[in-house]
Amino acid sequence: MDVNGRKALHDRFMRDCEERLSIATLESLGFFTAPASTKYHGAFEGGLFDHSLATAEELVDLTQKLRLEWERPESPYIIGMYHDLCKCDSYIWDIETNTYKYNPDSIYPDHAQKSIIMLQKYITLTDEEIACIRWHMGAYEKDPKMWEYYGRAIEQYPNVLYTHTADMIASKIRGI
Ligand SMILES: [Fe+2]
Repeated sequence: MDVNGRKALHDRFMRDCEERLSIATLESLGFFTAPASTKYHGAFEGGLFDHSLATAEELVDLTQKLRLEWERPESPYIIGMYHDLCKCDSYIWDIETNTYKYNPDSIYPDHAQKSIIMLQKYITLTDEEIACIRWHMGAYEKDPKMWEYYGRAIEQYPNVLYTHTADMIASKIRGI
């Protein structure tokens, strides 16, 4: 799929969301061309969008099947589509090795918090959306001391767990 195809898919999937990022903004951030990782899932041009759409689809699906309730109904769309926005700026193409590597000029170290920082410029997030994006990595948080925060986040916002599950379905089961 090319950039225009991805743009059209974004607008179609997000059509009922009042709060969403414009195509111009997403394009300027590199959302439709960035990879989703250096070498794991979606490590190709456009992989970030493909992974984001798959995560959003899975979170909407879980919401319908499990009858999840959200502070605002569009949250599974917003969280799924934009939880990895930070990755727009995380990777650069290395012409010497023909692979993606981490961007050495990035100024925010924390993956999930960086997505929230970037998103808040464009969307006023609900507390639940902030929690879901912050903890979407689940127990993949590198520092085990973070797990107690993650546990409390699930207790307060059960959809944190389903957000992580949707992310895992997209990356580990669907392979994107
Ligand atoms: Fe993700």
